[in-house]
Amino acid sequence: MSLTRKTSYDQNMKDENTGHNEALKKKMGGKTFEKKPIIGTKYTIAISSAKGGVGKSTFASNISLALKKIGFKVGLLDADIYGPSLPKLFSINEKPKSDGKTLTPITKYEIQCMSIGFLTDEQTPMIWRGPMVTSAIKTFTQKVAWNNLDFIIVDMPPGTGDTQLTFSQEIKMDGAIIVSTPQELALQDVKRGIKMFDKLGVKIIGLIDNMSHFVGDDNKKYPIFGNGGVKRTAEEFSKNFLGEIPINPEVGKQGDLGMPIVEKNPDHEISKIYLSLAEKIKSNFI
Ligand SMILES: Nc1ncnc2c1ncn2[C@@H]1O[C@H](COP(=O)(O)OP(=O)(O)O)[C@@H](O)[C@H]1O
Ligand SMILES: [Mg+2]
Repeated sequence: MSLTRKTSYDQNMKDENTGHNEALKKKMGGKTFEKKPIIGTKYTIAISSAKGGVGKSTFASNISLALKKIGFKVGLLDADIYGPSLPKLFSINEKPKSDGKTLTPITKYEIQCMSIGFLTDEQTPMIWRGPMVTSAIKTFTQKVAWNNLDFIIVDMPPGTGDTQLTFSQEIKMDGAIIVSTPQELALQDVKRGIKMFDKLGVKIIGLIDNMSHFVGDDNKKYPIFGNGGVKRTAEEFSKNFLGEIPINPEVGKQGDLGMPIVEKNPDHEISKIYLSLAEKIKSNFI
């Protein structure tokens, strides 16, 4: 695969992102890479976002649980080396066991989990350089004893940095889902994210509009962060729009309690959205 391959979006993006394209090309240096699958899994799906705080980790944890509920064996890899959230979201306080060669993932809610946060203490800041990030990713993808999984959901750090590059170049990725809020500021970065995955030859399964609106006591929809922006962006780039997830305080509360809403209350309206999204993901692969 040529990493500098032209995409149909090059023309669209030319004016806006020229600087970024140049930086990306330079970083990739025209190299080609051998892509290894993550051992022990059939499909690897990255959950990506351009910005932090748009609900990517919340999405990754709930969609993992939704895929489990529709019958798949699922792993959840928290690849956010700088800001791991899986220990908190799944309330995991133990350290993974190791036989000196491989790490055993920690199984919780029937999901096989791995996070840098299991290996370091919660308060320690992650002051890591690029090559260290790359080596941590290699450990998590090649030295974890993932066992007979259908899907690994990878919770990426925000942006278009070393982790995304390492994954896209060295790991066989079967698709990416981009999560965003409908704010203009977030959407600009979403376009950059789309561009990156296109260039790296990673299939974008679709875009999610998270925190799309709030439904008040009066049953009216309030578009807190603006209206329809993620769907418009998907259309602009000929990508699938997978759906909206409204703002619901229960989502945040359950995250904080360490049992995501899909696990805690599968009949909740938000959980039903996640279950239908899981069906959509399934239809992409099976
Ligand atoms: N649909 C939602 N409704 C309400 N709160 C949400 C929703 N999605 C995410 N959140 C909250 O937004 C905050 C950021 O979410 P998080 O998943 O940590 O984002 P990211 O991983 O993108 O940084 C968290 O407090 C989370 O509970
Ligand atoms: Mg996160």
